[in-house]
Amino acid sequence: MISADLVVAGCRELLTCAGPLPKRGKALREIGLVENGWVASAKGEIVFAGTEDGFQEQVEPEPGAVTVDARGMVALPGFVDAHTHLPFAGDRAREFGLRIQGWTYQQLAERGMGILTTVKATRAASLDDLVSLSLKRLDRMLLTGTTTVEAKSGYGLNLEDEVKQLEALRDAAAFHPIDIVPTFMGAHDIPPEYRDKREDYVRLLVDTLIPEVRARGLAEFFDVFCEPSAFSLEETRTLLAAAKSAGFKVKVHADEFVTLGGAELAAEFGASSAEHLIAVSDEGIARLAASGTAAILLPGVSFFLMMDKRAPARSLIDGGAAVALASDFNPGSSYLCSMPFVLQLGVFTLGMTVEETINACTGNAAYAVGRQATIGSLEPGKKMDVILCDVPDHVSLAYEVGRNPVRTVIKSGKVVVEDGRRTGRR
Ligand code: NIG
Ligand code: FE
Repeated sequence: MISADLVVAGCRELLTCAGPLPKRGKALREIGLVENGWVASAKGEIVFAGTEDGFQEQVEPEPGAVTVDARGMVALPGFVDAHTHLPFAGDRAREFGLRIQGWTYQQLAERGMGILTTVKATRAASLDDLVSLSLKRLDRMLLTGTTTVEAKSGYGLNLEDEVKQLEALRDAAAFHPIDIVPTFMGAHDIPPEYRDKREDYVRLLVDTLIPEVRARGLAEFFDVFCEPSAFSLEETRTLLAAAKSAGFKVKVHADEFVTLGGAELAAEFGASSAEHLIAVSDEGIARLAASGTAAILLPGVSFFLMMDKRAPARSLIDGGAAVALASDFNPGSSYLCSMPFVLQLGVFTLGMTVEETINACTGNAAYAVGRQATIGSLEPGKKMDVILCDVPDHVSLAYEVGRNPVRTVIKSGKVVVEDGRRTGRR
């Protein structure tokens, strides 16, 4: 018999999302549904996921084991939010007001607002400020079922302030159950002091920031905003080459607003992911589909910027790309961090099926941040990161739009949210 110290008993629907990752094409609809499903773990690691009969035959709970009654609940892997800009200061409510009056996101950026507004606020913030802001946001994310989050710097745009943002992530992670995957994004924009000498900033990134951040071990990934308003295709190429040779795994903000070929470049460089892709070309779709580079779609952006244009999710999925969904939580283009809402946007605005969005927010998102061996599905050997939702069936995760269905969150085998509330404090 397998011994267990935690048992999730009698889920109305257990969605294991098991199977090889990433899931492409039709496989993206396979969610491993088990009615009356049971999951058990020992020391934070899953030892069993399956039927009640299988559980009774194979598992022996230890004396004092915790049992979570999941009757009436839909259980699934904790959400992996594979793209956020978590550690920033300030907000952009005033600029949002301008957008409502008809200004576009790009017009704000051209007038020195947008990302640069947040750069000013983030540079002015202390490390402690950024840690406490990040912790508050992580709490919100946990309550909506996120158990792993990728988080980018990119509002410092100099060594000191980029390092401060990444240190805030390191310090917040030490106090919070959510696992953080840190990404260095010093190539988010050209800082104001380099506006007239952009080549010098690219040089600074290549010669100083990239090697220095790598040497300090503060980030696992490097990301660059490849867009006419930020870094050109050629600059992106230079930066990706430097980041890879420094030992970073790389990601690209690609073809967000303008078709530039960022997706093709990401695939060429063997990037872990190409992200956004609202304006990706057919060639870009084909290159991604033929590569190991995940396509992270961020439907919050088209929604939040009130754009008619959306990422071509159907062409990407049907073409065979490894599609994931994420929030892009940031103060300018997607001020939202609820993964249930992102899942709903996937269904309502991208033409995805509910099953596709479930895999895109779990297993494929884990793949997109290089964590597919340990999270993203409920299978023996993986982390016990499970969420319980009070919906009658998995379709209702999308159907009950705008509502947070997450009642229980189990992170690494510990119940950290119960009845929709944090258990104890950090
Ligand atoms: O992912 N695209 C670039 N960066 C963010 C926006 C950041 C901001 O507006 O502060 C994005 O959309
Ligand atoms: Fe982003």
